[in-house]
Amino acid sequence: MTFIKSSIGKKFLMAITGLVLVGFVMGHLAGNLFIFVGPEALNAYALKLQKLGPLLWVMRGVLLFCLVVHMATAIRLVIENRKARPVPYAANNHGNTTVAGRSMALTGMLVFAYIVFHLMHFTLRVTHPEFAHLKDALGHHDVYTMVVLGFQDWAVSGVYLVALLLLALHLNHGVGSLVQTLGLNNERTIVKVKRAGQAFSVLLFIGYSSIPVAVLMGWVTLPGVSQ
Ligand code: HEM
Repeated sequence: MTFIKSSIGKKFLMAITGLVLVGFVMGHLAGNLFIFVGPEALNAYALKLQKLGPLLWVMRGVLLFCLVVHMATAIRLVIENRKARPVPYAANNHGNTTVAGRSMALTGMLVFAYIVFHLMHFTLRVTHPEFAHLKDALGHHDVYTMVVLGFQDWAVSGVYLVALLLLALHLNHGVGSLVQTLGLNNERTIVKVKRAGQAFSVLLFIGYSSIPVAVLMGWVTLPGVSQ
């Protein structure tokens, strides 16, 4: 308990919960890329997830827990840092810190706002109630058509692309930082780990943004529609 309450303990908690969230983001991307295989593949994948039943709810619970702990711990660390240094430095000497590193709190909050919007869009379907009634040939929820219709709206795709950029910026610093906190690198590998974290965030951005871009460009269309 004393460890968790210490500054290093809080950083450790952020690293562990961050790692779980990064794992989700990778798995979610792999699943979403089935859209390029076709409607049957994406819908079958979504159905498989639904069929996990109670296990899916356990996974959702773990994810939500990690998100809440990650954010609450970040807020506590920011407050503690402010208390430790109530008067900011007179000169803004950022040394060798990057834009991504300095904007972690901001990008984190904006990514959270995006997650809320995304859940209302595709999971709860409150922003587009008509998505709830989409059924495929087998009578299951038609996730493929929902995603294509969703991204055919330029404004919605624009919001996603901005949010994905912010997520990439957050992970650009976050991944290297969590490896550092968990003590998985050393003097020799520190730069390589940092670069690998940055490369990872770029790949993640390319992977996710390929979906709205492919829909907007007409490369991914509704079944029976060619552009
Ligand atoms: C192009 C980008 C994305 C697409 C096409 C996409 C697609 C989807 C779809 C279709 C669902 C609902 C699945 C269903 O109802 O069966 C979903 C749920 C979800 N997405 Fe995404 N997503 C994207 C990006 C992201 C990102 C970047 C995050 C996290 C930062 C994220 C987090 C979630 C979460 C937490 C859920 C709820 C999972 C659950 O219900 O258990 N998504 N996404």
